[in-house]
Amino acid sequence: MAKQEDLFKNVVSHAKEYGFIFPSSEIYDGLSAVYDYAQNGVELKKNIRDYWWKSMVQMHENIVGLDAAILMHPTTWKASGHVDAFNDPLIDNKDSKKRYRADVLIEDYAEKLNIKAQKEIEKARVRFGDAFNEQEFISTNPRVVEYLSKKNEILARMAKSLDAGDLDDVKLLIEELEIACPDSGSKNWTEVRQFNLMFGTKLGASADSAMDLYLRPETAQGIFVNFLNVQKTGRMKIPFGIAQTGKAFRNEIVARQFIFRMREFEQMEMQFFVKPGEEMKWYEYWKTTRLNWHKSLGLGAENYRFHDHEKLAHYANAAADIEFNFPFGFKELEGIHSRTDFDLKAHEQFSGKKLQYFDTEENKNYVPYVVETSVGLDRMFLAVFSKALQEETLEDGSTRTVLRLPSVLAPTKAAILPLVKKDGLPEIAKEIMEDLKWDFNVAYDEKDAVGRRYRRQDALGTPFCITVDHQTIEDKTVTIRHRDSMQQERVAIADLKNIIENEVSVRNWLMKM
Ligand code: GAP
Repeated sequence: MAKQEDLFKNVVSHAKEYGFIFPSSEIYDGLSAVYDYAQNGVELKKNIRDYWWKSMVQMHENIVGLDAAILMHPTTWKASGHVDAFNDPLIDNKDSKKRYRADVLIEDYAEKLNIKAQKEIEKARVRFGDAFNEQEFISTNPRVVEYLSKKNEILARMAKSLDAGDLDDVKLLIEELEIACPDSGSKNWTEVRQFNLMFGTKLGASADSAMDLYLRPETAQGIFVNFLNVQKTGRMKIPFGIAQTGKAFRNEIVARQFIFRMREFEQMEMQFFVKPGEEMKWYEYWKTTRLNWHKSLGLGAENYRFHDHEKLAHYANAAADIEFNFPFGFKELEGIHSRTDFDLKAHEQFSGKKLQYFDTEENKNYVPYVVETSVGLDRMFLAVFSKALQEETLEDGSTRTVLRLPSVLAPTKAAILPLVKKDGLPEIAKEIMEDLKWDFNVAYDEKDAVGRRYRRQDALGTPFCITVDHQTIEDKTVTIRHRDSMQQERVAIADLKNIIENEVSVRNWLMKM
């Protein structure tokens, strides 16, 4: 555990030291759970957004984009259910004065039982070797059966109590399980209360005429209220999707773990409108497609898993998370939800306007069903960044810090380095940079010994270092060094563009899906 915590601390400090992420308004000691993306972070974030946008919008003829406003008419949030139901159950520890989400305390407890079961399974796998039958072992080993059934029982009871609004039972469950405050070990808890997560604001200058608004807690509603505008003006035929990226705001009770849970964050969401009755087929389709998109980045298939929801949000008839193995364990990265016709019907009811699709094949109107994919851009950033950051011991015993970012996402694709600051080498290096910058984000660096410059680019995740030396003057070749293997090869300046393009092109990465 200590190792995991160290790893996470390294992630946070590396992000700051190398100009990826700074705490917001740091000179005033920061603002809790709000962060700024710095010169390298903004490029990585943009590249993740572009990678998503290209795969969702550019590569799907039946998906179009949208950029709706953050401020929306307040009735939107009444209709969507957020005013009444966008709550988290919170509980305070009377001794430590720390505040927690009651459901998260219980889920963490259940996950510990799951980890115990997985350990038994792994031990048995080693013991039995090839003869190991995992399914049989899970269903017959008394310890595994006990751990897993207890876990399921706890989660089912919590889901039932939360659905019924029975917060007393949620508290009782915490007491029965003897869950202690992770900070102090105390079991002295307050009652469980509901807390609405939306941020309020006001529109208008004078106090009497000002209108109460909310900062949007999800981008999805901007898509729903524009559904018919887009369908009509884009002449879209069902099934079709509307995709959007943008800021969302939530007054999270426990905002922690760096950019994992923020109060201001960015979502990348797509609502896919389908014929009623076909939603489960599309739900499965999008689960698979989105998992493949994540896997295409090469961070390791073993770092992803599905978690099917026991407790469904007020709008869903099926929901799953794609979880990622963050430095603090498997946690939600993306949500895939079958949202039924809940949102469109609610907006019809609250606005008095029809939000229906005329199906020419069936010759009738209906309210489409919706399958949603929703991924946090900041969480994607953390997933990619934390997996990419590695400390390596080299053959000569020295260590290097390398950010093995998928090269398609790397902020800078190549650094151009003159071996020395004289003999006309800087001029050639700058010429190469001037040419490459039309196609790629590139950097020029002439400070320090070349070895130190390589290490600096490794730590920034730059896939290529191009070194201009005296031979360049004679034969117009340079050395190109690969970040991951540290191998160097001599290539013609004229070939640089193709070599880089081949490694960083979105096409080559998305083809792996
Ligand atoms: N429109 C559906 C929706 O908003 P959600 O599961 O609440 O569903 C979707 O959020 C995704 O947004 C999550 O999977 C996560 O990646 C991201 N997300 C949610 N809350 C977040 C927060 N406080 N900070 C950072 N990312 C967050």
